[in-house]
Amino acid sequence: MPNRHASLTAILCALLLTTNMSVSTANSSTDPAMIEQRIEALLAQMTLAEKIGQMNQVNASDDDMSDSLREAIEAGRVGSVLNQVDVDAVNELQRIAVQESRLGIPLLAGRDVIHGFKTVMPIPLGQAASWNPNIVREGARVAALEAATAGINWTFAPMIDISRDPRWGRIAESLGEDPFLTSKLAVAMVEGFQGDDLAETGTIAATAKHFAGYGASESGRDYAAVNIPENELRNVHLPPFKAAVDAGVVSVMSAFSDLDGVPATGNEFLLRKILREEWGFQGFVVSDWDSVRQLAIHGLTENDRESVYQAVTAGVDMEMAGQSYINKLESLIEEGRIDVAMIDAMVANILRAKFRLGLFENPYTDTSALPAIANKQALETARKAALQSVVLLKNDQGVLPLSAEKLTSVAVIGPLADAPYEQLGTWIFDGDRELSVTPMHAIQSLVGHDVDVRYLRAMDNSRSQASEAFDEAAEMARDSDAVLLFLGEESILSGEAHSRADINLPGDQAELVRRVRTAGKPVIAIIQAGRPLTLTNIIDHVDGLLFAWHPGTMGGAAIADLLFGIESPSGKLPVTFPRMVGQIPIYYSRKNTGKPPSPDTVVLIDEIDAHAPQLSTGMTAYHLDAGYTPLFAFGYGLSYAEFDYEHIRASAREIRLGETVTISAELTNNGDVAADEVAQLYVRDLVGNVTRPVKELKGFKRLRLEPGQSVTVDFELHTDDLAFFGRNMQLITEPGDFHAWIGGSSETELRTQFRIIDSD
Ligand code: NOJ
Repeated sequence: MPNRHASLTAILCALLLTTNMSVSTANSSTDPAMIEQRIEALLAQMTLAEKIGQMNQVNASDDDMSDSLREAIEAGRVGSVLNQVDVDAVNELQRIAVQESRLGIPLLAGRDVIHGFKTVMPIPLGQAASWNPNIVREGARVAALEAATAGINWTFAPMIDISRDPRWGRIAESLGEDPFLTSKLAVAMVEGFQGDDLAETGTIAATAKHFAGYGASESGRDYAAVNIPENELRNVHLPPFKAAVDAGVVSVMSAFSDLDGVPATGNEFLLRKILREEWGFQGFVVSDWDSVRQLAIHGLTENDRESVYQAVTAGVDMEMAGQSYINKLESLIEEGRIDVAMIDAMVANILRAKFRLGLFENPYTDTSALPAIANKQALETARKAALQSVVLLKNDQGVLPLSAEKLTSVAVIGPLADAPYEQLGTWIFDGDRELSVTPMHAIQSLVGHDVDVRYLRAMDNSRSQASEAFDEAAEMARDSDAVLLFLGEESILSGEAHSRADINLPGDQAELVRRVRTAGKPVIAIIQAGRPLTLTNIIDHVDGLLFAWHPGTMGGAAIADLLFGIESPSGKLPVTFPRMVGQIPIYYSRKNTGKPPSPDTVVLIDEIDAHAPQLSTGMTAYHLDAGYTPLFAFGYGLSYAEFDYEHIRASAREIRLGETVTISAELTNNGDVAADEVAQLYVRDLVGNVTRPVKELKGFKRLRLEPGQSVTVDFELHTDDLAFFGRNMQLITEPGDFHAWIGGSSETELRTQFRIIDSD
């Protein structure tokens, strides 16, 4: 039975909308019931062409403010534009949509605001190394406020593809290898972009991308096919998306990739069964750039028309930057192959976002209502984020921190010491390099009055093979008390379509390290990069190593503070660092196998018994030339303080299904400086309906401890937190034995155990 009252309201709304009058009260834009009525009213008035228009997103970058775009908007043939960041131009496009199109529906204005707008935060993988949802949320908030000044109301972030292959260029844009860490930080980013109320000035809609499995591209080649068994998909790749949906993310972007033979943009199982039916997603799905048309290139469909059919029936509500929906969809509906009711539901998803954003009430951007770009607070957030994202990987003999009082001179050498653009990393369309504080400048201004700071770039760029300046570098090192070597990757070496097969330091950098080493002075490498690198060939030639990712606008200031002990490093790796590329994929939460390796079973290639080679190895799961451990494990990161964990305990030996157990340990700062530490909780379910990983992250806390201070770190674990997808793809928690560890990395051996028993 139709609801009489609702349909009367719908008619009223429709009448008001046709005259371009606002029907809202101040808070009606956030009232879900009212929004549904307004959608219904609007849909009732829309022609089929106007509906399809809402499903069409058009590239409107600066040089594309063409008459045809204006005409298309006026005709109601455009639902969203992307890549226009001139606020006057966006306001003008909104004016055409709101005042000159028949129904006055405002536009979504999208942009890749990935890790900042003008003020750039560390790359997302760097932010993940902070293990700090608060700083990640603040960073997204700064980005939203700055992007809003350009008229942007929708970003294509966070990217939450589980990424376990450092060859993949887009690992830079991810939050790392772990579903739990990624989920927590994904929610923080969504909250930062979207705020408490999307209709407020300065909030923008977020996008969870790329749904799903894109991070598992074969051999880390971008856009390559992905094969993930359903159980792994559900247990590893989907949880961050579920968390983002539960946090109210406005949109989800379908991936470019072919998932198990069905490209994600035509994948009904992903987009309808999981996203809509199982999770009840109320937002809208946008394709990736031109990925609807690419369904034919994949070989899923014969032509663009069939691609549209597949994408629409799969559940892609809006096509990004293609022409297929606008050109082919109407005839598919007229022929009866696609039901108009399906289109109505899809358009409703898009309109819902526009209502939630308050665009019908406030379509225009008034920059005076927004804070200034790169204001003090924005820069301070960028500095804090960089500070917490840098990971100290090596510190032999406590070479760090340096003491400005004890040094008379320091050599700053390397292609990334003073490279304002490169430190910003990938995806910085709008990032302002003029704002960058480079390490060289920050060191100079921090200690330049006490210490003679010498600088030599030594290499033109990170890929350079030219070694002419290396003698000079070695000489400068010889004449200085310590060497700071700024190495890594330029920003162009990571990001979309920038995968690498060799992930050593590029160019002749390893040779530069060796040459500088000959000077016999303490050598500290500071690496800025978009991915984990294989550092085996340099690690023994440096005394200290700070891994800074691409740290963003304030990266230099943060690095200088860390080098000279103003702050202690506190970042922890969000992704495993392999010893060599052949170990990939290597991640901490692996399955045990039937023949797990241990130190006793590993015989390396050089240790094979020449007289009985066939008897040499321990017949377990490892590589003869690499063993089975990474160079640096997930969760690893040193500090200038010394943190010790002891006395782990479970609050109960046994709990029933539905109950909670608290796992706790004592954490002490036995060092002599105050510092942050990220305490981590790992769990193993010993026996499962499907085998479970050897360790899974289930909690983490960033804590600050004074020298000598001890605290109890505790983590509550509900039995639901231990649920996983079993053989029949249902979420289950099974009674049985569990191990739990607390510590400062995934390699912690401080363990307790508990048992779950049936509730009856
Ligand atoms: C393609 C990328 O895969 C996606 O992440 C991005 O948001 C779109 N291009 C828009 O630039």
